Amino acid sequence: MFQTPQWPIWDQDDLAAVTEVVQSGKWWCGAPLNQVGKNLWAFQEEFAQFQEVKHCIAVANGTVAIEVVLLALGIGLGDEVIVPDYTFVASASAVIAANAVPIFCDIDRDTFVLDANKAETLITPRTKAIIAVHLGGNPVDMKRLGEIAEKHHISLIEDCAHAHGSRYHGKRAGNWSAAGTFSFQASKTLTAGEGGAIICNDDALADALYSISDCGRKKGEYFYAHFQYGTNYRLSEFHAALLRKQLQHFPQQHALRNTRAKYLTEHLNAIEGIRVMQPTPGTEELGYYIYPFVYDPACFGQISNAEFKNRLHQAGIPTADCYPPLHTLVCFKNRQLRKGIDYSSANWGGTKSEDQYFPVVTEVYGRSIQFPQNLLLAEQSQLDQVVDVIQYLRSKERGC
Ligand SMILES: Cc1ncc(COP(=O)(O)O)c(C=O)c1O
Repeated sequence: MFQTPQWPIWDQDDLAAVTEVVQSGKWWCGAPLNQVGKNLWAFQEEFAQFQEVKHCIAVANGTVAIEVVLLALGIGLGDEVIVPDYTFVASASAVIAANAVPIFCDIDRDTFVLDANKAETLITPRTKAIIAVHLGGNPVDMKRLGEIAEKHHISLIEDCAHAHGSRYHGKRAGNWSAAGTFSFQASKTLTAGEGGAIICNDDALADALYSISDCGRKKGEYFYAHFQYGTNYRLSEFHAALLRKQLQHFPQQHALRNTRAKYLTEHLNAIEGIRVMQPTPGTEELGYYIYPFVYDPACFGQISNAEFKNRLHQAGIPTADCYPPLHTLVCFKNRQLRKGIDYSSANWGGTKSEDQYFPVVTEVYGRSIQFPQNLLLAEQSQLDQVVDVIQYLRSKERGC
C-alpha cells in the first residue's frame, strides 16, 4: 500500500521559532521604522534572496497579494485583465475585488497553462494586464507573453502560488513581470498554514505595494499618516517565524520533487494513453505544487475520471482535485459578483460560459488526474507502485 509522505513537515526548530515569538511578546511586525517583530522583516529579505529578486512584501495570503498588485498598477473600474480559465478562483476573484473584469483565456494542450497566443486575441482597448498563472509550477511562456505585453502596452503579473522555486530561461518565476505573487497556504510547497508575498524589482512599485498592504502608510513617515488608499493585509510574526524555518528546508524538498517528477514522468509517459504535463520549453526547475497528467479514456476502457481516481485511492495513492474551469463556476456563470460593476464585456456569463468556447481546458479538465506535491517526496520505490497501478489499469484494456 502506498504511504503518502507527511505534509506539512515540521520539527522542533519550527516549534522553537513560534515559541520564541510567543515568549518575546512581540507578536506583531510593526512598521519599517520600528520593526517590532524581527521575523517578518527578515523573512522578506530571505525570500527575496531565494527568489533572486530585489523586493519582497509579505502579505496575509496569496489572494490579496494579487489584489494589491492590481491596485498598485492602477488597475480598476472599466479595465479588463486576462486570466487563464484553468486556475484557482483567486486569480480571477482578485480582479473582481479590484473592480475590474477578468477575461478568461484557454490553455495550452501540452503545458496546461495560459496559451500566450490565445491571450493576444483577447486583448481589447480596455485590457490593462495579463495574469500569468504558473499552474503546477509550470511557467507560462513568459518570453512570448513579454513580447505581447510590450506590443500592446499592457502590464504582466505572475501568479506564482504554485511556482516557488520555478526557474525558466535562467530566471526564477516572478521575475518576468511587474510583480509575482505567492501563497503560503497549507497545501503549498512553502507554508505556514496561511500567508502570501509579492516580489518585484522596481523600487517605486515596491513602495506602492508596501503602502497599499499597510493602510496607505509610507516607509519612513509618521505611523498615523496615510497617503493613499490601503488596507491591512499584513502578515503576522508567527507566520513569518514559521516561514523562515520552512524556507531553510525548501531547497532540498524542491530538488527532491524535481528528481522524483522526472522519474515518474519517464515511466508514466511510457504508458500508452497517458500524457504528463509537459514543462514549458526553457523550464529549468519546476515548483510542482501539483503533478498533473491526462489520460485517454479510449486506452482505459472509457473509465470515468471519478473511477480512475477511485482505483488510485483504493491503492492508497492520493489525488488532488483539479480546479473546475473558471467559466463553469456559478459565480461567473450567473454573474453573482460586485454590485454596480458592468460585466457585459466579459467572455463568460450565461451562454458565453458554454464549454465550446473553452475547448482545450474542457478537454484537459475532463481527463485530468493530479497528484499533490507531497507525493513527489516519496521514495522512488513508492513511485514504482504508482506506475504499477496505472499500468495495471491500462493492461486491462487493449486496442487503443
Ligand atoms: C493559482 C492560485 N492563485 C492564488 C491562490 C490564493 O492563495 P491563498 O489561498 O493564499 O489566498 C491560490 C491558492 O490556492 C492558487 O492556487
